[in-house]
Amino acid sequence: MIAQKYKIFFDKVFNPIALYKIRDSVKKPVTPSDIIFVDVNPAYERVMKLERDKIIGKSFVDVWPMAEPCWADIVVKCFNKNMSVRCEGESHDTGSWLEAVAFPVSHDMAAAIFSDMTDWKKSEDELKLNQERLREFAAKLTLSEENTRRDIAQDLHDHLGYELVSQLMTLRTLSEKNLPEDISKIINDLIKNTEKLIAANRNLVFELSPLVLKEVGLNPALEALAKNMLEPRGIEYELIFNGSMEEIQIDDDICVLLYRMTRELLFNVIKHAHATKVNIIVNRGASKSMVAVEDNGKGFDVNKIKYGLGLFSIRERLLPIGGEMKIISAPNSGTMIVMTCPSTLTD
Ligand SMILES: Nc1ncnc2c1ncn2[C@@H]1O[C@H](COP(=O)(O)OP(=O)(O)OP(=O)(O)O)[C@@H](O)[C@H]1O
Ligand SMILES: [Mg+2]
Repeated sequence: MIAQKYKIFFDKVFNPIALYKIRDSVKKPVTPSDIIFVDVNPAYERVMKLERDKIIGKSFVDVWPMAEPCWADIVVKCFNKNMSVRCEGESHDTGSWLEAVAFPVSHDMAAAIFSDMTDWKKSEDELKLNQERLREFAAKLTLSEENTRRDIAQDLHDHLGYELVSQLMTLRTLSEKNLPEDISKIINDLIKNTEKLIAANRNLVFELSPLVLKEVGLNPALEALAKNMLEPRGIEYELIFNGSMEEIQIDDDICVLLYRMTRELLFNVIKHAHATKVNIIVNRGASKSMVAVEDNGKGFDVNKIKYGLGLFSIRERLLPIGGEMKIISAPNSGTMIVMTCPSTLTD
């Protein structure tokens, strides 16, 4: 059936090839039982684990009674529509992952060329699994880092914070007494210093772990974050809150995540943007919430971005919880990075 000059190619090629024809006197449209095997090459015998002699002259249905419908479908479609058809999938009969292209050869003949993609598919599956493991690992690492930070912050808040406030109260009590002027001045200076230390400790606690998120909620925590990070650098900022804070609750874990990621984005603004104005937009929804950080800085070409740990870790932390990060930027047009995630974690 194969012209002699093509025979050597047919026999030697690594890809399985099958030639089909329509059973005599059958008119189109055809069904799988109307399609007869005319020839198969040695690669077909090897991959499909079938001997040529047991196939030739038999119908598609006789040879592959249990095959997934897609394999017959492409040949049927190829005959009926006179066009090339592609299919990829698992073949349980052969235990392989196959790709096939069926194409018309003449009005009553067609051929299909297969590629055995089993090894490729296995590597792809392994790669996906490893990526999944890496994500899980990164999530655990984030959690453990978060716990350590929270412990340190808790200690600073409970011990140092408490001692400083006690000291301030003692100093204030002392200042109300009738003391010599020079002592009074020293006490007033000490009061001012202690107030500064309390504020610095509070900022440190905030930076380390947003403990207060639980007490004050996400919006005031973000406000304090922006104030602490942007104000000293002379960057103007505005917080835009949409959605009712009372009605729409965001899980504590999500709040911590959004807070941390916003902090990372503000670091980027400070480091890269040369911006003079930043908007932090918070949208609370019943099922999804969003925080976006927008700056009027130098922007960048999103297609040429070189991910560092910052944006990479935001993307990787959002993915496993069904969230996503979108980057909108262009050179000289500022940057807006939008983080969306579910408002509650249901596991
Ligand atoms: N607000 C921004 N304005 C301008 N460029 C930005 C902004 N945010 C990110 N970029 C660009 O995107 C790149 C990737 O940011 P990413 O946070 O992933 O890495 P990084 O800040 O360079 O390093 P790292 O976060 O690991 O310290 C940055 O190097 C910078 O070129
Ligand atoms: Mg960064």
